[in-house]
Formats: sequence, C-alpha cells, structure tokens
Amino acid sequence: MSTIPICQYDAEILSNRQIGPGLYWIDLLAPEISRHAQPGHFVHLIASDVSKDSSRQTWLRHTPLLRRPFSIAERDPEKGVFGLIYRIVGGGTEILATRREGERVDVLGPLGRTFEPIRAGRPVIMVAGGVGVAPFLSLAQETVRDGRSDPAEMTVLFGAATAGLLSGEEKFRQLGVDVKLATDDGTTGHHGLVTDMLERELARSPRQCAYLYACGPTPMMRRCQAIAREAGIDGQVSLEGIMPCGVGVCMACVVPCVIPGDRSSPRRYERVCDTGPVFDMEEVVL
Ligand SMILES: Cc1cc2nc3c(=O)[nH]c(=O)nc-3n(C[C@H](O)[C@H](O)[C@H](O)COP(=O)(O)OP(=O)(O)OC[C@H]3O[C@@H](n4cnc5c(N)ncnc54)[C@H](O)[C@@H]3O)c2cc1C
Ligand code: FES
Repeated sequence: MSTIPICQYDAEILSNRQIGPGLYWIDLLAPEISRHAQPGHFVHLIASDVSKDSSRQTWLRHTPLLRRPFSIAERDPEKGVFGLIYRIVGGGTEILATRREGERVDVLGPLGRTFEPIRAGRPVIMVAGGVGVAPFLSLAQETVRDGRSDPAEMTVLFGAATAGLLSGEEKFRQLGVDVKLATDDGTTGHHGLVTDMLERELARSPRQCAYLYACGPTPMMRRCQAIAREAGIDGQVSLEGIMPCGVGVCMACVVPCVIPGDRSSPRRYERVCDTGPVFDMEEVVL
C-alpha cells in the first residue's frame, strides 16, 4: 500500500478541452497531488460543482453523488498541475465535460498502487486500449524525465475503435517512444485488434519485450495475459473497474486474484482501489 499522503483539493480547472469524439483533456491545479503522483496513480473526483453551495442538502442533490476515478496522465510538479484524459460514457463524465476553466473540482488523490518502474536494459511494451493510454503517458514521461531508461527501449501499442480516439499518440512520439497504432475500423494503423499487433511484434522480435504493461478493456487485458504467459514475459495490468469509495472501505471494487504462476491456487479477493489498480499480470483473474 502507498505511503504517499492522500490529499483532498478544491482544484481549479485550468483547461478542459475536447481532443476527440467524446474525448477530453482536463488540467487541474492541485500542487500536493501533482508533487506526489507516480505513474499508475489515479484521482477520485466529484464531477459536479459542489463548491458553490456546500450545504449537505444541496450536495445530496448533485448527481452523480459518487466520485469517479481517473488515471493521472501527466503532471508538472513545478506548476502544481496534473492532467487527465477522459471519455464520456455516462452521467459523471458528461457533467465533467461541461465544467469550465476557473471552476473548481473536488478531487482526492493520489490513490492506488503504482507501476513497477521501467529500468534501463529491460525493454518494455505498453499495450493501451482507448483511454487506457492515460497511465502510460505518465509512465513514459516520468521515465524519460528521470533518465531511467532510453526511450528506444519503450514501445507503445495503442488501439481504439477509430482514429479520432487515439489522442495522446503525439506525446509519445515527442518523447522518442515508438508508437504503433491499431483501429477496429481501419481508419489508421493496423486494421484490427491491438492484441493481434502485440502477437505480431513478439513473434517478429521477441527481445523487444522483457516486461509487458496493459491497460484497457477487460477482454484486451485478458488476451494480453494469455500472450504474456505463452511468451514467458512478466508484466502488470492496470484495471478500470467501478469504484464507489476509492479508499478501501466499501469493498465494491474487489477482483479475484490467485498466486502468480499458480492459476489453480485458491482465489482471494483484492480491492482494485488500494491493492490495485495495478496488479501483477498473472495475479488477477479477468
Ligand atoms: C483506476 C481507474 C482509472 C480510470 N482511468 C480512466 C481514465 O483515465 N479515463 C477515463 O475516461 N476513464 C477512466 N476510468 C473509468 C472511469 O472512471 C469511468 O468511465 C467513469 O467513472 C464513468 O463515469 P460516468 O458517470 O460517466 O458513467 P456511469 O454513468 O457511471 O456509467 C456509464 C456506463 O459506463 C459503465 N462504466 C462505468 N464505469 C466504468 C468503468 N470503470 N469501466 C467500464 N465501464 C464503466 C457503466 O457500467 C455504464 O454502462 C478509470 C477507472 C478506474 C477504476
Ligand atoms: S472502491 Fe470502495 S473498497 Fe474499493
């Protein structure tokens, strides 16, 4: 479990802009969260504006009542800012997209378990599905910023339904990280599944990957687990389940886990919000 302090902020929205169909980027000013966040951390935020009237009756009228979790995609600790990428899927994200610069968002974080750091001499592949790219933007940026590994030792395989949903791709290229794209509708890159591309890459050059990271829809991550197992590669997955409390209290986010390497071992249940969202590739049963 993380020893990093969890802060609650009435964070100022510095910008909230559309970057694709139903896809947004929001920058929030929250110096302590920005200073302490590490790749894989997420924040839990109240999408609606609770700052205007903090009385309990008014707060209870706000929908949705529960916080929503989002991975930290980028941070600038000197400016005290961090960025999130989000896609509109329901009420909370719809409200978030209406929030304007200068307004405030109640945000809690940084939360969760972070990624195993990338190390020099250990090439990695990050497989991202849709907004699952967010934690990998942070992982690649922090690795390059700290000089922990050569960008040439990182490959991102980024898949989405269509080209417009592949936003963030250019940020990897700016870092010198190789990005290969896949779309379900063939509008750009490989026409098909990002996991097919992973299989192809591993077959073509097995030494390109000593460690695999995956974040995206559950079927994608399940397939990544199978491919990693077959190739004998270790790795981690970052899960995006439903998360009512975000701090280990409600038990609504639990996932079945086994002892890594022994899928027949008795199942135990772990909370995604504090034992995860990052798990050993072989530990979680998807
Ligand atoms: C650790 C973590 C990190 C996340 N990071 C990001 C991120 O960086 N960017 C981003 O866009 N989203 C991210 N998500 C998912 C995001 O939290 C949900 O999309 C959001 O909470 C939906 O809220 P809503 O009120 O708009 O939708 P709701 O009204 O709550 O749900 C609308 C529909 O989406 C489904 N849904 C809700 N939450 C999820 C979910 N987590 N996974 C799959 N389906 C869901 C519901 O079943 C429903 O069908 C993350 C989730 C977790 C747990
Ligand atoms: S979301 Fe409540 S315990 Fe994880």
